[in-house]
Amino acid sequence: MDNIVEVRDLVVRFGDFTAVNGISFDVREGEIFGFLGPNGAGKTTSIRTITTIQKYDSGSISIGGHNIRTDYLEARKLIGIAQQNISLDKDLTVRQNLKHHAILHKIPRKDIDRVVEETAHILELDDYMDHKVMNLSGGWKRKASIICAIIHQPKILLLDEPTAGLDTRSRYMLWDLVRMLNARGTTIFLTTHYIEEAEALCNRVAIIDHGKIVTKGTVDELRDSIGRITVDTTSDDGKRRMEYFPDIATAKEFAHTLGDRLYNIRRTTLEDVFLEVTGDKEGA
Ligand SMILES: Nc1ncnc2c1ncn2[C@@H]1O[C@H](COP(=O)(O)OP(=O)(O)OP(=O)(O)O)[C@@H](O)[C@H]1O
Ligand SMILES: [Mg+2]
Repeated sequence: MDNIVEVRDLVVRFGDFTAVNGISFDVREGEIFGFLGPNGAGKTTSIRTITTIQKYDSGSISIGGHNIRTDYLEARKLIGIAQQNISLDKDLTVRQNLKHHAILHKIPRKDIDRVVEETAHILELDDYMDHKVMNLSGGWKRKASIICAIIHQPKILLLDEPTAGLDTRSRYMLWDLVRMLNARGTTIFLTTHYIEEAEALCNRVAIIDHGKIVTKGTVDELRDSIGRITVDTTSDDGKRRMEYFPDIATAKEFAHTLGDRLYNIRRTTLEDVFLEVTGDKEGA
């Protein structure tokens, strides 16, 4: 599988503060790749840099083999972005916003109406086309912003926190949309601070914290990296404590040493990995 995004040793500073501190990763064509990290980890800075909105200090980024510094226009054509702060015009209708994006992406004028209607239809937005964006629910606003981001049929769609602040039903609607776009051939790069979102959607995940990638791989690889079986117990001071083991046998051996203390032997989750690698084992 080819890499559609290659990021090497990327550093982004704001004055003396280093927001992205030497990250390297690849996004493979056809996959859903997730950047999982807490608030302030550097997710938005990374995504804005990859999409050429934000300048960077050192390292390199290539999109579809095009270096974004030397081959900006070719790289930019391959990208669609839905930013964390929705950038739709709230006073305009969904249709007007879609047309606006079509013009921005230089879709020939004669094709715009057709492309807008077709895209809206495929993504089941028909009923909302004449609604002003300001009157849409949070979930539909996000959906509309994602559809604007794909109007020019980018090869890779970058979504910054696509479901932040949404209720469960809206979140599932957007997960379905992301899966559908991916099934139709669009590579997806998304950021999230929801562990279950990364687990549910992503083929591969990188966990980012304080501007650095602390681990990356498939969810199974990440589980294996700390131990796929967890013994969940409580320490003497009453705090929850997790120990990780490669298999059930060794987990049971450990559990026998716990005496009368209650414990639970279970499968390691991405949340365990997250807490372990971000150094927050006792939970926030
Ligand atoms: N323009 C800026 N000037 C100065 N500092 C900035 C700027 N943009 C971001 N930062 C800082 O860089 C760090 C990373 O911010 P970023 O927005 O990339 O994090 P994030 O992972 O997207 O967080 P969130 O989950 O809250 O969206 C934060 O400490 C933030 O305060
Ligand atoms: Mg952010």
